[in-house]
Amino acid sequence: MSKQMLFSPGPVMTRQNVRESLMHYDICHRSKEFEAMYAGLCKKINRIFNADDTYRSVVISGSGTSANETVISSVLNDGDKVLLLRNGEFGDRLKQLYDQYKIEYVDCSFEWGTMMDVDDVEAALRANPEVKMISMVFHETSSSMINPVPAVGALADKYGKWFHVDCVSAAAGQHIDVADNHITFATSVGGKCVGAYPGSAYVCAKIDVLETLTPEMGRNVYLNLARHYQKAKSNEQTPNTPNVTLFWALDTALDNILSEGLDAQIARYQECAKILRDGMRELGLKMLLPDEQMANTVTSVFLPAGMDLEAFLSDMEAHGYTVYAGKGVFYDQNMFQVANMGEIYPEDCHKFLGVLKECIA
Ligand SMILES: Cc1ncc(COP(=O)(O)O)c(C=O)c1O
Repeated sequence: MSKQMLFSPGPVMTRQNVRESLMHYDICHRSKEFEAMYAGLCKKINRIFNADDTYRSVVISGSGTSANETVISSVLNDGDKVLLLRNGEFGDRLKQLYDQYKIEYVDCSFEWGTMMDVDDVEAALRANPEVKMISMVFHETSSSMINPVPAVGALADKYGKWFHVDCVSAAAGQHIDVADNHITFATSVGGKCVGAYPGSAYVCAKIDVLETLTPEMGRNVYLNLARHYQKAKSNEQTPNTPNVTLFWALDTALDNILSEGLDAQIARYQECAKILRDGMRELGLKMLLPDEQMANTVTSVFLPAGMDLEAFLSDMEAHGYTVYAGKGVFYDQNMFQVANMGEIYPEDCHKFLGVLKECIA
């Protein structure tokens, strides 16, 4: 079989040594060897968030949603209120979690693909002083938009709020500084910009806040942040049996980033995105967003009018390239998404453009 090239925003292309790490010999998660690996892995996660030692990371065996669900279901007491900011599919997924757990929130919602207005956010904070936590997505993957986390973080600091940021599609793809941006809880997963696999999610959280959480506050047993933190703090273990195999892969992918340098990886993502965007514009395709609003790793672009989106996706697939259909309203507008996450290099982007040109022609 020839190798399929994933230009999709997760799962992503992985490096050979990440795939090989899945063949690691078996170990028990209650062993010293696991503890040493887990302690190191969590420190490496901290580094991609630029977290200092006032932060602690824990790994959750689950997809990206499991990290968000861990935070949302276990850091709030009955009666605590959230300010939810959303402008796309993944902001809506946060809403789904708040609804499911019957947590009260002030809904500050913006049209999909529209930049959040920070003045509206401040007005919502002034009007709802009882809000305890602000919750939002860093990179709204459904539109490729980078949301204004630094400005909202400044408001979280000014008004004394906790700040939860879904960094699922941003960690290791964008510069994130949890301390500077007053982020209390940052979440992500291996199978996106880190270049590992889905199923190894993580939360990087402020230790002074983690210290205030109790397992009983959790509305969930498995996805319980206090349980994860306490077990990690006491002996660098997880509360339940983790998917150790994926921990090795995540660890290797993080080693790759830290040896390439986080800045160098981000620069490579920016270079690839520029090649793709310039090339798609040359083919006459229109982008959803202006360059300055777009993430380093996902481009949202429209097929020419009259072209059938599903037929196009199948054609690309048959040529060995996976791209994504737009979600919701964007699907109806014939939008598709091209991602450059994981093991994708400039030469791959040039080849991609050649195939795209053929399929569009
Ligand atoms: C920003 C964001 N949040 C959450 C998710 C959900 O992650 P998962 O599908 O791994 O549960 C995704 C998935 O693409 C995402 O892009």
